[in-house]
Amino acid sequence: MSLGITVQPGQLIERILTLELVRVTERAAVASARLRGRGNEKAADQAAVDAMRRELNKLPIDGTVVIGEGERDEAPMLFIGEKVGNKNGPKVDIAVDPLEGTTLCAKDMPGSIAVMAMAESGTLLAAPDVYMHKIAIGPGYPQGTIDLDASPEENLNNLAKAKGVKVNELTALVLDRPRHVELIAAIRKLGAGVRLISDGDVAGIIFTTQPQETGIDIYLGIGAAPEGVLAAGALRCIGGQMQARLILDTEETRARALQMGVTDPNRKYDMTDLARGDVIVAATGVTDGGLLKGVKFGGPIITTETIVYRSATGTVRRIYGEHRELSKFHLD
Ligand code: FBP
Repeated sequence: MSLGITVQPGQLIERILTLELVRVTERAAVASARLRGRGNEKAADQAAVDAMRRELNKLPIDGTVVIGEGERDEAPMLFIGEKVGNKNGPKVDIAVDPLEGTTLCAKDMPGSIAVMAMAESGTLLAAPDVYMHKIAIGPGYPQGTIDLDASPEENLNNLAKAKGVKVNELTALVLDRPRHVELIAAIRKLGAGVRLISDGDVAGIIFTTQPQETGIDIYLGIGAAPEGVLAAGALRCIGGQMQARLILDTEETRARALQMGVTDPNRKYDMTDLARGDVIVAATGVTDGGLLKGVKFGGPIITTETIVYRSATGTVRRIYGEHRELSKFHLD
């Protein structure tokens, strides 16, 4: 199927693609939302992957998946290196997490989203599916306020100073995992708050960009690397600071990373190392959450809420979609 639009190869990412990305994440969100609360993570994820891939292949792009469902041998669809799009357009990098927070969706808990990024070719870090140390804050602070290699105490004290508040007025967001016991204790020892989330650190990092709304000042801890690249893409558009380091603690992960171009396994990445070109990021809510409302079924209309970020202008749009019966959503 043709969308009837043509984007010339070599052009920067076209504005028109912003809305096309919205369609992609909307479809993935609706497909997985049909399986909310069914306790089947795999099925919910597969539904999102199928829908996202189908929509991506309609786009006028010559895309390569750099962040996907895994290596080619373990992920039959949207694997790293897979070509997507109808080739009638610019060469772009594609990063996808068709269902970010699979467990949240399977348990019908808040915060699962369908999310993807599109960037100029060769500008997104091709990260293997390993863990990553991450630290992030929103916009408006002097460069260097945070440092991945500094202690939680130093980072929180610097942030409090930059924000003009006491350290015990800050709240950090951390994934609720046993690996973070010491980190959580260190933050609490300073008198600062910790908001624990069970999953979903793409949204968790984005929360730092609006502390007045979300109550979150800083993200700290270890999450998955693909999610780190997606979050960095969004921060590139909104503003903020982020640093990250891949955790390559086995021969196997180091070899995989090297294959993907990571020559220094200890490299500290800045936000712009993770996502350095013109980038668009879109996310649609699957279940209700702090960032987005989830898909609503019932009656003849399906509703979706999507947020889409564009780095070229820093524009952030929230798009409320009403999808009527007889539209293709109902045929999925
Ligand atoms: P999935 O959607 O792949 O389950 O990822 C959810 C997530 O919570 C991410 O947001 C986060 O980066 C990662 O898992 C943390 O990994 P782990 O659950 O292994 O600690």
